[in-house]
Amino acid sequence: MKPRIQWPLPVSILLILIILFVTMGVTHGQGNQETSGKLRNPLNVHNGADPWLEYYEGNYYLAATTWASGLTMRKSPTLAGLKTAEPLQIYFETDSSRCCNMWAPEFRLLDGPNGLRWYFYYSAGTWGTYDNQHPHVLESAGTDPMGPYTYKGQLYNTWAIDGSVLQLNDSLYFLFSAFENGLQSLFIAPMSDPWTISGERTRISEPEYDWEAAGSYVNEGPVSLHHDDKTFIIYSASACWTPDYKLGMLTYSGGDPLSADSWTKHAEPVFQRSDENGVFAPGHNGFFKSPDGTEDWIVYHANDSTSGGCDGGRTTRVQKFTWNEDGTPNFGVPVSTTEEIAAPSGDIGSDPLPEFPALVISRFKARSYDNAYLRHANFLVRVDSLVNPIADSQFVIVPGLADSEAVSIESLNFPGFYLRHQRNAVVLTPDDGTESFEADSTWWIRPGLADSTWISFESYSQPGKVIGKLFNVMALVAQADITTDRAREDATFLEERAQ
Ligand code: AHR
Repeated sequence: MKPRIQWPLPVSILLILIILFVTMGVTHGQGNQETSGKLRNPLNVHNGADPWLEYYEGNYYLAATTWASGLTMRKSPTLAGLKTAEPLQIYFETDSSRCCNMWAPEFRLLDGPNGLRWYFYYSAGTWGTYDNQHPHVLESAGTDPMGPYTYKGQLYNTWAIDGSVLQLNDSLYFLFSAFENGLQSLFIAPMSDPWTISGERTRISEPEYDWEAAGSYVNEGPVSLHHDDKTFIIYSASACWTPDYKLGMLTYSGGDPLSADSWTKHAEPVFQRSDENGVFAPGHNGFFKSPDGTEDWIVYHANDSTSGGCDGGRTTRVQKFTWNEDGTPNFGVPVSTTEEIAAPSGDIGSDPLPEFPALVISRFKARSYDNAYLRHANFLVRVDSLVNPIADSQFVIVPGLADSEAVSIESLNFPGFYLRHQRNAVVLTPDDGTESFEADSTWWIRPGLADSTWISFESYSQPGKVIGKLFNVMALVAQADITTDRAREDATFLEERAQ
């Protein structure tokens, strides 16, 4: 048994004090910024739209729009660590009245009738469309943001999106975006508990300024922000598919929050594109504090180019913001993805991935036409020339979902969506919870039927069948039925790669 080192008492106490001091100084950001880490935006390479981010009990939690029937959460002890954190599925819904195209998550720790619980709000509608979007809420079993969650309810049965909870004057209110008089506007309604709307809605903002009407008249993504004795609602304005999507601000002027007169709109946007920094369509934000509670941060999505759309190509960005003399927030300018920023105070994480590796993007040129490519449109797959947006014909080849020796073909602008066959049609779908999803989304790359230097896609789940054409629609066709030159050409493609 090793002799114990006998320190004189004062040294061992000194050691403990030194360890305590260093630990406190490093993990709680006492004093200088040198203890803070560094990071660069974005926090993900796609599927980063409409992000919500919370810091809770030593970890950051991040959720974003999934476009599908599952909700995911990333967890990391450092902000930069979210970049490589696995998005874990925390909920999956097969009831079509509660899913299937999930947008705009928001999760808040609220002390309601069931005690302290996380309430996870999302909008969901018909898969592959913008239709039938309704706000829903889940409740956690305890106080772990990772869940498990159970379905708690639907808050509206009319079209409404981007639900968010406002806590003001010891009351709960539901903020959301919906249509009135043909304009997508902001509304507020009272809540009797975190899952129940208890009164009529009031419209508190409609798009009225030119900066709220780029591409379409839109006010959406309302989020409350409190500072000292002031309350604001920061919201997104203009069409999300334009580079001029931006943030606006309402200031609470006192009185009944359910009265439109209690909210005053700022005449100018408060956060918008920076051509100099290469950031476009910044919007649909959330707010969080640094681990030591001393700093205010904004999380938002944006595109890297003016041609970016309102799709899975949007990525999550974060930056610190300050306050003006008059107590209003100063969000500054969206930072460039090349700029290294200091991590939140008290966060010593180093950036594991300053720059995401460039995706290898593939397009599949059809043998049977000049300059035509395989593309998805309304989640059906066909061959088109002059594809617009070109992203509809851009894919990323990944290891096969059912067999990593094979491949799966993931959409670039709808990440998490894969080329699959369904009832013999070739379509683009996300994981729909069926057992056949993975097998039907897995393909073997074979020498092209019309030209062995090109390729054909043989189904993993139905060997001997390839992506071909039936009645002028891309379909799964038995190789034995492909007997003409035209049919062979319809099943033959040339992969073109770009980074
Ligand atoms: O990103 C999906 C939806 O698009 C968001 O919920 C909404 O803010 C935007 O219009």
